[in-house]
Amino acid sequence: MKIGILTGGGDCPGLNAVIRAVAKSLMLQCDAEVLGFEQGFLGMIEKKYRDLSYRDVSGILTAGGTILGTHNKANPFEYFGADGADVSQQVVDNYHELGLDGVVVIGGDGTMTIAHQLHKMGVRFVGVPKTIDNDLMHTDRTFGFDTAVSIATDAVDRLQTTGESHGRVMILETMGRYAGWIALHAGMAGAADVILIPELPFEIDEIARVCRAREERQRFTIIVVGEGAKPRGGEQVVRETIEDSPDPIRLGGIGNYLSEQLKSRVDSEVRTTVLGHVQRGGTPTAFDRILSTNFGIYAASLVAAGRFGEMVALKDGKLCSIELHKVANKTRYVPVDSLMVRAAAAVGTSLGRRDLNIDLAKPGDDLTI
Ligand code: F6P
Repeated sequence: MKIGILTGGGDCPGLNAVIRAVAKSLMLQCDAEVLGFEQGFLGMIEKKYRDLSYRDVSGILTAGGTILGTHNKANPFEYFGADGADVSQQVVDNYHELGLDGVVVIGGDGTMTIAHQLHKMGVRFVGVPKTIDNDLMHTDRTFGFDTAVSIATDAVDRLQTTGESHGRVMILETMGRYAGWIALHAGMAGAADVILIPELPFEIDEIARVCRAREERQRFTIIVVGEGAKPRGGEQVVRETIEDSPDPIRLGGIGNYLSEQLKSRVDSEVRTTVLGHVQRGGTPTAFDRILSTNFGIYAASLVAAGRFGEMVALKDGKLCSIELHKVANKTRYVPVDSLMVRAAAAVGTSLGRRDLNIDLAKPGDDLTI
């Protein structure tokens, strides 16, 4: 058996842990030959790959980034190197020329969408759900999310001590694209006073009211805002648009927008921290190392069983798989009646809206964290 591995889209803590688990278990259980495509789908388009030995994938569990490199522009259906040409048949031909029995593709929704399209053309894929944003459909968790939340929580903790000392409003802008998972979880873990997520467009006057009320008592306020959050009736703040990218919009700037809006409405000084790529760098948490390893082993078992066209998933604490077409081109948003949103409201955290009547969770409710 000969299997390829590819990491696509933005990098994420835990990629190397998955590569290690997939490769080692295929080598040990199936005596498979494993090769790694370099720089995501660019490796499949331009046939850039290297054979991976057991030694190559040893000692990488804790390493951040990806030993294979990645690329978030290399879409074979709109190849940026050839002015948006469709080079997908070249990928299919390369796959057959290399004598591959399948490819384990580790990525987010963009990568799964490409894999699904290529799968229909005869390239056999098994997917592994990666992204710090936790926004892939049909899996309760993606690997990398726990690490990003830990890093963002550490930032909230640190902003609290300096904010408290100076009596300031401290805003932390997290990543997460159009879903509020990172902001919500880090805000909860760090006991933020206000959490703003894209799924619940905020009212600036309500946030100012919370800050002013706290000025009278605690003197400081911590606000965690996801980069995709937006004012009610307003738009998301776009940092830049990247041409040639399958995902051209780069969000960012809502933290500074909020700060400008709040300055005239509160007495305290307002400061903003944009956490950025720190959330994606470095070693994965213990949880992500374990999740990535189990995802990788499960992906290898799907390969061994000839179950292609599926992505590994975690549902209600159990490993399972889901067909690629059910994941492609979709985003998993925070349900506004989820346990986490209700828990935030239950402990008095503002979600930036006055009109929210969120019921407390009751025993027996079907709610996931
Ligand atoms: O999808 C992961 C992510 O880190 C998002 O949270 C963020 O919006 C985006 O990627 C940033 O992309 P780039 O690394 O291209 O700036």
